[in-house]
Amino acid sequence: MNTLRVGIAGYGIVGKRRRHFIDAHPAFTTVAVCDRTFTKEGTMADGVRYYRDSHRLLDAEKLDVLFVCLTNDVAAEVTMAGLRQGLHVFCEKPPGRDVADIRAVIDVESQHPGLRLKYGFNHRYHDSVRDALALVRSGNMGGLIDMKGVYGKSAIISFGQSDWRSKRAIAGGGILLDQGIHMVDLMRLFGGEFVDVHAFVSNRAWGHDIEDNAYALMRTKDGAVAMLHSSATQWRHRFQLDITLEKGSLILSGILSGSKSYGAETLTVAWACDNGAGDPREQTTRYNNDPSWADEIADFADAIARDRPISEGSSDDALKTMALVYKIYCADPEWKQKWGLRDAEG
Ligand SMILES: NC(=O)c1ccc[n+]([C@@H]2O[C@H](COP(=O)([O-])OP(=O)(O)OC[C@H]3O[C@@H](n4cnc5c(N)ncnc54)[C@H](O)[C@@H]3O)[C@@H](O)[C@H]2O)c1
Repeated sequence: MNTLRVGIAGYGIVGKRRRHFIDAHPAFTTVAVCDRTFTKEGTMADGVRYYRDSHRLLDAEKLDVLFVCLTNDVAAEVTMAGLRQGLHVFCEKPPGRDVADIRAVIDVESQHPGLRLKYGFNHRYHDSVRDALALVRSGNMGGLIDMKGVYGKSAIISFGQSDWRSKRAIAGGGILLDQGIHMVDLMRLFGGEFVDVHAFVSNRAWGHDIEDNAYALMRTKDGAVAMLHSSATQWRHRFQLDITLEKGSLILSGILSGSKSYGAETLTVAWACDNGAGDPREQTTRYNNDPSWADEIADFADAIARDRPISEGSSDDALKTMALVYKIYCADPEWKQKWGLRDAEG
């Protein structure tokens, strides 16, 4: 079988990380990359060619697949360029700076029905999340009552990162759009769509022109409630999602990541007991491997090979998750007015 020729646009932290998993998959081979930090065009020691911008990458190379690992300001534009060139595209989250960006991409995608477009909501591929989802979907623990999610880190710009995440003109939003979007996506995965949203959004702590904290209270049309806190003042890094069902609860705590700072990844299942003592039987599983990056790539390769729809991280997921992020921004009238945001229906 011929491998698919992959180009990577954006060769920063994630672009390099993606390359490792792309090249580890038998269906893919990275043949070229681009990043504006290259001072000139050339060929790496391993034969991969490099360019300074995505136009040159797309013009000069005969690719099958494009991975977009750029900053948010150019993600949508380059994704559309890839689709127009007839390439399958994988783009990192978020899909752009705002809802209009992903809508424009979907418009182009609809003109190329034979191409696969996938977004990198990679938390869906963590084993703890997959196991929790299987339990919820089994129905054995009853319907969903509520969710409480905290995802936070101690800065907008973590150690070793460049500073584009702190600039609205490039990033489009702050901690909620950058990191909290994973929690928003998981809440949609477990709870469905949220129709009522209340929120406070603030940049009080770091004073950038993007949020450093977002607090949301949301409800589905079935009445399930979710509380979300996305934070860039979480001095002890934290990922926690509590899912309360009618017959028990699931606690996702910690997530395996590159920084290893979010603690051990565990899933605790507690079964409600009749005596009301509040000390139920529970079982905790600890996950020591992070298959998410490899499995996400494998799923993308499979969707291309079988010509089947994207199951996780479709453009529809990206639109709905992005629309919910914007609903949270706009649910705080002061925040909405301060940045001139406009409501965006999902
Ligand atoms: N799935 C995840 O868990 C996850 C984790 C971290 C980051 N991300 C996403 O990956 C993307 C990249 O993040 P990162 O941490 O690698 O950032 P980064 O700053 O390390 O990399 C971005 C790269 O894009 C390059 N770039 C920007 N504009 C360009 C242009 N016009 N032409 C050429 N090169 C350009 C920059 O030079 C930089 O090297 C972001 O969208 C981010 O949200 C996803």
